[in-house]
Amino acid sequence: MSVAPVALVTGSSSGIGEALARALADDGFRVVLNSARSAEAGRSIAASLPDAHYIQADISVEAEARRLVAEAAERHGRLDLLVNNAGRTRAIPHADLEGATPEVWREIFDLNVLGTWQTSVAAMPHLTRANGSIVNISSVAGSRPAGSSIPYAVSKAAIEHMTRLLAGTVGPQVRVNAVAPGLVETPWTQGSDFFAPIAEQVREVTPLRRVGRTEDVAQAVVALTRATYTTGQVLLVDGGAHLI
Ligand SMILES: NC(=O)c1ccc[n+]([C@@H]2O[C@H](COP(=O)([O-])OP(=O)(O)OC[C@H]3O[C@@H](n4cnc5c(N)ncnc54)[C@H](OP(=O)(O)O)[C@@H]3O)[C@@H](O)[C@H]2O)c1
Repeated sequence: MSVAPVALVTGSSSGIGEALARALADDGFRVVLNSARSAEAGRSIAASLPDAHYIQADISVEAEARRLVAEAAERHGRLDLLVNNAGRTRAIPHADLEGATPEVWREIFDLNVLGTWQTSVAAMPHLTRANGSIVNISSVAGSRPAGSSIPYAVSKAAIEHMTRLLAGTVGPQVRVNAVAPGLVETPWTQGSDFFAPIAEQVREVTPLRRVGRTEDVAQAVVALTRATYTTGQVLLVDGGAHLI
């Protein structure tokens, strides 16, 4: 009887991360959920999935990222997939240069870039042993002049280049890919004055005429886990928004 593979999904107490955890569990993974603050929500999602559990850790802090990976691998004896999903932004109009303060840059980079890096580094020995893979969650803002703020968009561009650089470094044992969603309905975007007009535009002019669902992103991540000859790729999941 084969042993079920193990997936760690950072930032999985809500939104895209929750959908990822559910889709990976449906696909036969034992899932480790995580968040920095919302422990109750994370635990309750884990309780609804077979052989899943939750670990609270702020992955922007290196020691916590290392603890998270160590506890996940210890509990299950292996780690096959890391999904670097935890991320944050601040809505700052791009023209408001003074609004994008060094504090904002640091806050966003500490989580989106360093958090992704240090969790990946901690996971690499386990992924190497398991012939596993990483999927990073970027954004359409990582390659287009768009996004909730310039620091956020630049952090996602950094994640995309990190994806290519790591993929070229950690093969043949480990594959590294990214999924770059367009606008997706999550607690982050719903009911936001900043995102409402963008959602309207997405519904009117993008080829697929709708805003993304968390399940759309999850499907793409599952597809990349199965794409065994694909590494260093960034898959846009944006309803064709990049075409307009
Ligand atoms: N929604 C969109 O339209 C969209 C589009 C493109 C890309 N994305 C990307 O998709 C990812 C998820 O976004 P979402 O919309 O699903 O957001 P969300 O619903 O706000 O979820 C963010 C998750 O990350 C966790 N988190 C925050 N800070 C953390 C930290 N320091 N350590 C560990 N976990 C942390 C949050 O829990 P706690 O706050 O309780 O810790 C939560 O579980 C992000 O990387 C985002 O950039 C989203």
